[in-house]
Amino acid sequence: MAAATPTLEESAAYITRSGKPTAAEVLARARTSGRPALQPRCGVGGHREMAALLLELEREGAPDLLTLTIDSHTRLRRFESAERALRTDHRTLNGYPLVTHGWQRGRELNELVAVPLEIRHGSPDPRELFATAVASGVTSFEGGGISYNLPYSKDVPLADSLAAWAEVDRTCGELARLGVVMDRELFGTLTAVLVPPSISLAVSVLEAVAAAAAGVRCVSVSYPQGGHLAQDVAALRSIPLLAARYLPPGVEVHAVLHEFMGVFPRDRGHAEELIFYGALTARLGGASKLITKTYQEAFGIPDAAANAAGLRLASVAGSPLLDFVTVDEAAVGEEQEWILRETAEIVEPVLSAPRLDSAVVTAFAAGRLDIPFSASRHARSEVIPRRDPSGAVRYHSPGRLPLSRASAERNRRLLGGPADDASGASLFAALRRDIDHFPLLFGETPEGAPAGPSPATPGKEPAP
Ligand code: 5AD
Repeated sequence: MAAATPTLEESAAYITRSGKPTAAEVLARARTSGRPALQPRCGVGGHREMAALLLELEREGAPDLLTLTIDSHTRLRRFESAERALRTDHRTLNGYPLVTHGWQRGRELNELVAVPLEIRHGSPDPRELFATAVASGVTSFEGGGISYNLPYSKDVPLADSLAAWAEVDRTCGELARLGVVMDRELFGTLTAVLVPPSISLAVSVLEAVAAAAAGVRCVSVSYPQGGHLAQDVAALRSIPLLAARYLPPGVEVHAVLHEFMGVFPRDRGHAEELIFYGALTARLGGASKLITKTYQEAFGIPDAAANAAGLRLASVAGSPLLDFVTVDEAAVGEEQEWILRETAEIVEPVLSAPRLDSAVVTAFAAGRLDIPFSASRHARSEVIPRRDPSGAVRYHSPGRLPLSRASAERNRRLLGGPADDASGASLFAALRRDIDHFPLLFGETPEGAPAGPSPATPGKEPAP
């Protein structure tokens, strides 16, 4: 039997005396330096294998933070299935089952590497996982009551996931009072399929407001690279402005870029060009952190060598020699103005309600909040995104989102015509092309491509 989980006071004392920097400290330092902190995803089932993976990544890739990516059984609280897999064949797990291994092994991993650890998972109810993470000395925890429910689960009521995550956030508040600031990273990537920036940011604003009210003191707002430089830089630079507008003072907020989360080119060179482009985007957008990808992305979970290569490639974009790389500031300014405006139009009616959590539930049920291609019964998924001719992600249809007429018309104009000029089969084909944007840009044939997320299979689970 594993020893009883330490109390919060004991865990806080362990973290403080470990002498390791917390994730919040690493992020603050990165923001000041102007060079995004780098972090890979990584997780395997076996404990010894996980330890070896972390050591290899630290040695070969020099990340600023490391990850424990958690397996699917644990994400869904199927702890017995995780245990069975560990007993029979740990290689069948798609991540590290931290709850099953227990907090003492968690501490072993934490003490093995110099950099702080983050948990990335995808759980609508992460309470046991969070408790084990804190006891392990992990100082960053990804997810949120909206962003770890709607993209992943078919039928978990939003009220349930919001309540579970509120407990996590309240515990972060208690930890802050004990002197340990946990970083809470929100999953703005959502379904990872053509997510309009204002939807990603609106969901993050709502989760951040709830987290701050519960006592969270450090929030990382992650945003998925869409692939249009001015739009992505504008979205990243909007994050501190949204924080100033909607969050109380005293909450640290960091912008985080997820390197492209959609269908990746298969060719190694093409994949590496996209990775480098993502890393430059993070730098130009002033991100505190970049979550990296690898040249094996099109084929599944990367091995350690590819993962380390992805880190090294991303770090090249941080070189002081690249100070000459700039972005069209006028285009960024224009995008940013509209991103802020659309985000305000989406979040402000919800924020003005007396109770945030019930307002979120009602708004998703009515489609006034929405995310594209959601698997969940608790979101309508009536929003239809498209890429415009320059590659930026726009609203082909905003569904029932309360966008102003000016915002809706601008989206329509940039897409080049009235919303109903593409429908049925031609809309489906156009969406397919938008989703395959990067492989097509590089001249790769979509035939035979591994099945990426497609509008025909909206339930496909994005990995966190
Ligand atoms: N280790 C490394 N990367 C992982 N991903 C999912 N699970 C793991 C894991 N255990 C990555 C996928 C994809 C992203 C969404 O998450 O490879 O790049």
